[in-house]
Amino acid sequence: MVRVAVLGASGYIGGELLRLLLQHPEAELVAATSRTHAGEYVFRVHPNLRGTTELKFSSFDGGGLAGSADLAFAALPHGESVKAVPQLADAGLKVIDLSADFRLSDSRMYPVWYGYDHPRPDLLEKFVLSIPEINRDKVKGASLVSSPGCTAITAILALAPLLKDKSLGVDRDHIVVDAKVGSSGAGGKPSLSTHFSERFNVVRPYKPAGHRHSAEIEQVLASLSGERVAVSMSAHAVNMVRGILSTSHLFVSPPPKPIDVWKAYRAMYSGSYFVRMVRDKQGPFRLPDPKLVIGSNFCDVGFEIEERTGRLVALSATDNLVKGAAGNAVQSMNLMLGLDEKTGLTMAPLHPV
Ligand SMILES: NC(=O)c1ccc[n+]([C@@H]2O[C@H](COP(=O)([O-])OP(=O)(O)OC[C@H]3O[C@@H](n4cnc5c(N)ncnc54)[C@H](OP(=O)(O)O)[C@@H]3O)[C@@H](O)[C@H]2O)c1
Repeated sequence: MVRVAVLGASGYIGGELLRLLLQHPEAELVAATSRTHAGEYVFRVHPNLRGTTELKFSSFDGGGLAGSADLAFAALPHGESVKAVPQLADAGLKVIDLSADFRLSDSRMYPVWYGYDHPRPDLLEKFVLSIPEINRDKVKGASLVSSPGCTAITAILALAPLLKDKSLGVDRDHIVVDAKVGSSGAGGKPSLSTHFSERFNVVRPYKPAGHRHSAEIEQVLASLSGERVAVSMSAHAVNMVRGILSTSHLFVSPPPKPIDVWKAYRAMYSGSYFVRMVRDKQGPFRLPDPKLVIGSNFCDVGFEIEERTGRLVALSATDNLVKGAAGNAVQSMNLMLGLDEKTGLTMAPLHPV
């Protein structure tokens, strides 16, 4: 049994981590930290967990956790994680951080994308950005792991094989990612734009250009292809609570044959349980659809080719709280501990939802 703690446990990602860890056969949940709910039962904030735990939230105490936990998940806002995580990492705990604070390998990128100077560039070098389907072996040997942003991992899983396989000839300077995101992607803290009357029924562009997750996507794709990659991303808030649909447009001249695109995906994902290829010829569910992955750690991936314009459309769908965050983090923990990466994560998606 590994003793695990969750920091920022009152938030949406924290709650999802608790849900997964409470039914994980190899994890013992020893602490769930919260500033505002310390002393309260976890199920008061996460009512779905009533009857599954009698744990109470506690205040963050880095020194205390060093003695009582083996591994900590940090689900804090970016800019806050970078204050708490070093205390745990320096004390020798294994850490999985879900914020952006340890995702970018180059500290010079933090002022550019996040507006602050990274205080611990030495730690950045030690963190592995974990996407098990892409860098499983690196995650296995790591003690410090970060998990990508939800729109980033969703887009990356559709794009990575197409950039890795150079024989496809994808134009690396013109990759366009269009993401549709459910409301839980913005976290649990209410604001005017997340207020029901304002958020319900929207298809609202909230970051048509300059989305921060472009940096992570470019970092991963460049390391796979060995060359600079330029990603242009637009994000829209849509009328879902959970879920992301990423539609990526790539340009290839001459356009590839479907069999070659299949080969690229199979080469990367043939042993990856959590990536499902979806490209059916008939029925209503022919391509990835977020509605069909909700509650699960699956990422559904599919594609279409528009021969006339040389456009390759790569589609992917995740539950942003699971494969987009907590599920990917637990999958990473499994690898770090030498467990089967599927341990505690094989739940089927909900349908209908
Ligand atoms: N939502 C997603 O789909 C998603 C996906 C991937 C990654 N992430 C990342 O995961 C992290 C958590 O996201 P979330 O959606 O769970 O956000 P959230 O619902 O707002 O939860 C964040 C939690 O962090 C704690 N917190 C807030 N401000 C803090 C501060 N100044 N100092 C210490 N703790 C603070 C809060 O708990 P208390 O106030 O009770 O202390 C809060 O419950 C973020 O970095 C986010 O970018 C989110």
